[in-house]
Amino acid sequence: MSKATPIGLKLTAAAVLLFAACAASLVTAPPALAKTAVPKPVLDGSAVAVPDSYSADTAQQIFAEGGNAVDAAVAIAFTLAVTYSDAGNLGGGGFMTLYVDGKPYFLDYLERAPQTATRDMYLDDKGKAVPGMSQVGARAVGVPGTVDGLWEAQRRFGKLKWKQVLAPAIRYATDGFKVDARLQKARDDAATGFAGKTNFDAYFANLKAGVNFPQPELAQTLARIASDGGREFYEGRTADLIASQMYGHGLVTKQDLQQYKAIWRQPLSADWNGYQVVTAPPPSSGGVGLIQMLKMKADLKQAFGGLDLNSAPYIHLIAQIEDRVFADRQQYLDDPDATPVPLDKLTGDAYLAQRADEVSPDEVPGAAPVKPGLADATAEKPQTTHFSVVDKWGNAVSNTTTLDGSFGSGVVVDGGGFLLNDEMDDFVTTPRAASPASASGTSATTGDELNTIAPGRRPLSSMTPTLLLKDGKVALAIGTPGGSRIFTTIFQVMTDIYDFGLSPADAVAAMRFHHQLLPQKTIYWEPYHPLTGDLAEQLKAKGYMLEGQSFNGDVQLIRVDGTTPQPVADPRGVGVGKVFQ
Ligand code: DON
Repeated sequence: MSKATPIGLKLTAAAVLLFAACAASLVTAPPALAKTAVPKPVLDGSAVAVPDSYSADTAQQIFAEGGNAVDAAVAIAFTLAVTYSDAGNLGGGGFMTLYVDGKPYFLDYLERAPQTATRDMYLDDKGKAVPGMSQVGARAVGVPGTVDGLWEAQRRFGKLKWKQVLAPAIRYATDGFKVDARLQKARDDAATGFAGKTNFDAYFANLKAGVNFPQPELAQTLARIASDGGREFYEGRTADLIASQMYGHGLVTKQDLQQYKAIWRQPLSADWNGYQVVTAPPPSSGGVGLIQMLKMKADLKQAFGGLDLNSAPYIHLIAQIEDRVFADRQQYLDDPDATPVPLDKLTGDAYLAQRADEVSPDEVPGAAPVKPGLADATAEKPQTTHFSVVDKWGNAVSNTTTLDGSFGSGVVVDGGGFLLNDEMDDFVTTPRAASPASASGTSATTGDELNTIAPGRRPLSSMTPTLLLKDGKVALAIGTPGGSRIFTTIFQVMTDIYDFGLSPADAVAAMRFHHQLLPQKTIYWEPYHPLTGDLAEQLKAKGYMLEGQSFNGDVQLIRVDGTTPQPVADPRGVGVGKVFQ
């Protein structure tokens, strides 16, 4: 839309004026502003930790225009759909954990299976999974939730006009933005897998480091959403474009889009270490996993006593905890609208104390009987992305959003200019009954139908946008991409800060490792902080195998220390932490 640039420019100019006015108000506190219904600031500033610099600039504009954390979060998410194309999205989904006016909320805008999806849709006639079918191309696409999620959040809690929060994204799509080396590398890595199978190259061949990258079709889509509202994506011209793209290739129809609604759910909450943890409930497995890990570690205080952070005995105890957590994940977690999940039990003190009792420094890795892990749980691909926001009024947003794989299914909506997800791959795509020789190869358990594909069902996610509250105030906003590594990463950063007293920056930079039930006895390490030398030898002597993984995580956190927000962007990525006075 040709008007997009002038709107963007006008808003930038308005933003500068407003910013100047706000800056002046800090000094003179003019009564005209004081009389509005704007609550008094309780923090020294607003802050963000975001995965790229463009989204940080967007946040600056939104705060300067008087927006709150939710306005900033929605504007950041739309910006990332333009500037962080491998994970930011319109055609994906995610979770948002919020704290607004002293109350916690959770918004589930995860993708859902289309109405004609079937349990065995990725199997051939011999019951074997067709390689790549749930990951690349139109059949991998679930009904996207992002736009409805952002629309719901902003309508309910935002202070600015809807058009204002879309303006920065429209500007980046219209004028382009300078591509960085990270994004080009992600593009190059993904392009090979999509070659000849999707229209990815027609849209992203020119994504080159140092080069300006405008996306005119995406700008038009964003402009339509800006002028007609979030439901345009589900009921307007954008819905028509998605349905045409899918027709004859994928399953998502106009009816699927019309029926999609983001859902406000009760966030998962637990007391830990003097804080209230507010985190993601099912269909995420991450909140349950995080709470289980935190509480079991606290129960095992004696066993952990005196152990150095990331020493071999420390890693061993955490790995034993992780075995229990991933066994429960496999056995009990699902879309709560498909299967009731016993949340109170799984996160209850008595149960977790009993589970922690099973953990011992002498346990031989892999010797204890374990329940099967998810067949594809270790095969996480980058990318997903997370950002955290707090505003000076004490509101906070922790948001994780995903296309699942890097650049999703590789399918771009022709005429719409945006990528569609491959979130269907998060279902159990090879149910054991249909394929007894699948990776776990174990006998049937009550978990066998869990997380299989069914119309309208949500896949089990690991995204864990989390907040910590202390005395009713936000103390931490945290999250990361990383599939099943998401909550083990958040756990490590939280315990590094609160149990070991590391500064937030040191905690985010510290070594991280990952372990889960299957493959047994395997400790994964990350390129950023290889696990080598004596430590590696000690773990091997204990019976573990060490395996490097290609993905590092990308934690974006904000700790609030008294009234001072301290944002930290993971040094593994290209993110930015910024405070806005
Ligand atoms: O919902 C989930 O858990 C996955 N779709 C997230 C994928 C992910 O984090 C990959 N990123 N590294």
